[in-house]
Amino acid sequence: MKLATKYQQRYISNRRETDKVTLKHIEKYNNSYELKKLLDIGCGAGGIFLKAIRDLYPKISLIGTDLSEEIIKENTKINSEFRIKFIHDDFLNPNKILPKSDILTMNAVLMFFNEEEIQRAFDRIFDQLTEKGLFIALDYMHPWDQKFSIIEHSKLHPEGLLLHFYNYSFLENCLKRSGFRNVNIEPFEMPFELPFKDYNSIQTHTLKTKDNCNLSFRGAIYQPWAHLTAQK
Ligand SMILES: C[S@@+](CC[C@H](N)C(=O)[O-])C[C@H]1O[C@@H](n2cnc3c(N)ncnc32)[C@H](O)[C@@H]1O
Repeated sequence: MKLATKYQQRYISNRRETDKVTLKHIEKYNNSYELKKLLDIGCGAGGIFLKAIRDLYPKISLIGTDLSEEIIKENTKINSEFRIKFIHDDFLNPNKILPKSDILTMNAVLMFFNEEEIQRAFDRIFDQLTEKGLFIALDYMHPWDQKFSIIEHSKLHPEGLLLHFYNYSFLENCLKRSGFRNVNIEPFEMPFELPFKDYNSIQTHTLKTKDNCNLSFRGAIYQPWAHLTAQK
């Protein structure tokens, strides 16, 4: 797997718009409860999001986990001077014991889990959180009475990448079954336009609706990004 170094570099100094929303949820939690530990599951290359948190909350303990051993090795190297701990772990088939955390985040990870895995992930997330702990996810979520999956074959994923698009009520029911309360889902809109490059690039671009909303597309696929929060 190729590590997203260019992508990392772009967002190391410029915060991603989606992360800004997640950071607001973290700030709100921190205003009511004491945030001591945060766990980011599927942290990806460079730990972009964890670095943003580290800069804002210098005292909290941060852990990022990922299924990819290569990503974790690379992150550990890049971040050797920082306070972020990176752990190689498959969240669905764990071989490591992770510490309980006040906040657990998942950015663009649930889209890779099937229905059974979603429920298993939510059960484990519930166990991983401290009392009143907060789960925050950014993912493809939509309000329609539909659940669907797409296999994307692209230059990046010639072997095919299976992406799931879950609806709000399915996710809410799974979260409640795991014991969560105060479930909230908020659609995300890009605050500015991202240009279309060409048909060879599946990097996110936006299209404007008649009422001036920026819809995010990954190539031909509409991305219904939304933030989900749920409390233990
Ligand atoms: C689309 S990337 C998102 C990376 C990062 N969260 C971000 O916002 O940039 C999804 C990441 O989830 C990781 N992942 C997928 N399934 C996982 C699992 N079962 N356990 C842990 N990480 C997983 C992948 O290895 C990948 O790095």
